[in-house]
Amino acid sequence: MFRGTEGSNRVPVAITIAGSDSGGGAGIQADLKTFAALGVHGTTAITCITAQNTYSVTAIECVKPEIVKEQIKQVAEDMGIDAGKTGMLYTEEIIKAVSEEISKYNFPLVVDPVMVAKSGAFLLKPEAEAALRKYLLPLATVVTPNRFEAERLTGMEIRSMEDAKRAAKEICSMGPRAVVIKGGHLDMPKDAIDILYYMGEYRIFSMPRLDSKTTHGTGCSFSAAIAAFLAKGEDIPSAVKQAKEFTTNAIKFGLKIGKGVGPVNPLATLYREAAKYGVLKSVREAKRILESFPEVADLAPEVGINVAMALPYPENINDVAAIPGRLMRAFGRVKASSSPDFGGSSHLARYLLEMIRHDPRKRAAINIRFSEEILSILRGIGMKISFFDRKEEPADVKHIEGMTIPWGVKQAIARIGETPDVIYHMGDFGKEPMIVVFGEDAAELARRIVEVASKYRSSQRKGNCSI
Ligand SMILES: Nc1ncnc2c1ncn2[C@@H]1O[C@H](COP(=O)(O)OP(=O)(O)OP(=O)(O)O)[C@@H](O)[C@H]1O
Ligand SMILES: [Mg+2]
Repeated sequence: MFRGTEGSNRVPVAITIAGSDSGGGAGIQADLKTFAALGVHGTTAITCITAQNTYSVTAIECVKPEIVKEQIKQVAEDMGIDAGKTGMLYTEEIIKAVSEEISKYNFPLVVDPVMVAKSGAFLLKPEAEAALRKYLLPLATVVTPNRFEAERLTGMEIRSMEDAKRAAKEICSMGPRAVVIKGGHLDMPKDAIDILYYMGEYRIFSMPRLDSKTTHGTGCSFSAAIAAFLAKGEDIPSAVKQAKEFTTNAIKFGLKIGKGVGPVNPLATLYREAAKYGVLKSVREAKRILESFPEVADLAPEVGINVAMALPYPENINDVAAIPGRLMRAFGRVKASSSPDFGGSSHLARYLLEMIRHDPRKRAAINIRFSEEILSILRGIGMKISFFDRKEEPADVKHIEGMTIPWGVKQAIARIGETPDVIYHMGDFGKEPMIVVFGEDAAELARRIVEVASKYRSSQRKGNCSI
């Protein structure tokens, strides 16, 4: 491995030798996000500037081959490179220049033989394909063709896993140490299966195929992630395995922007990790606020109050922090018997998980007792209110454990044509009626609930006086 001179405790350095995507979804931009998310220092040698967005590439300007070489050289000589990847190279001249420069150093190289963009534009001139095979593939540690690229490289048609395996072996005979045939475009409706051929053996990496419209940049993130794991010293199979998991998350939490295929989101995992402390702190603060004001006890249902807040992009109840055992009424106040934790509520978590699918900002919720008067106070402070009726729940939904609330939230949203701030239901056999109030932040929402509790208490007092 070619490293700099500063010793082994330095941050690993990775380089991407690729094109710039002005839409920020693929190319250099996706690669840098991926490197940053995986804790390696990302460096770049830009080969081409593309004008593109989520649905088209309208212009390509190549960087002079000697400038591409110079970018690699300056990084290599100063910092050392622990691993690299190539993406869009476009011309034979650039391929030759990159191959020549890379062969001076000895870092592991992932070659993503980018040929065509998701939008259909050519990112490698057809006459440059031979140069890619001849000069670059023999220098590669791992090559990552998608189905069409593997077909172009081998001249074979790939229709099945067996075809993909044969193609991987054939490409491996062109000089790289390992080949991954990516499964994004293979005809497998249920799973996205990648096939690694390495040291004469096949390894299959399978993940469920996501029905996602945010796949712009999957291939770039995948190859950049392999390079990042290699830079950190992982072996090839483990780098490919982890890169696949990483890419699946980047697709799952992709960004719904633009009119075409939205960008993948390589930073999603990092954002979730980073948000954990803030979310827990906010729920802790919400608990303190609710416990400090005696009037909050007037809003407590029999089952107690809970306050919950979700991480960004939550997947299940373990991504939602709440108070296990809830805040129960005791001595004229509400009081928790335990500290907030992730997975602390399944009830409110289900409300939030569904709500966030419709409005990602509404990440906090508090449940309170149902009363018409409380509802009118909530309406009075400008909250949008909707409801669902448990009696209307279809039998097939009722039979599945945990489905009533998601169904109810969808009903409440459909009823008013937008996401409400408050959802209530009037109860059913064995189910206490309930109001759930939503907000962006747990502590802020708790302050609003205190405001509601104060208004409710003073209205009750006035009511009692007038009797
Ligand atoms: N819908 C999907 N669900 C899950 N994984 C997917 C999906 N589409 C692609 N992948 C995975 O993403 C990675 C990239 O594969 P893909 O075949 O999409 O590359 P690509 O065609 O080169 O992408 P790009 O068009 O961005 O260059 C692979 O690990 C593949 O299995
Ligand atoms: Mg690709």
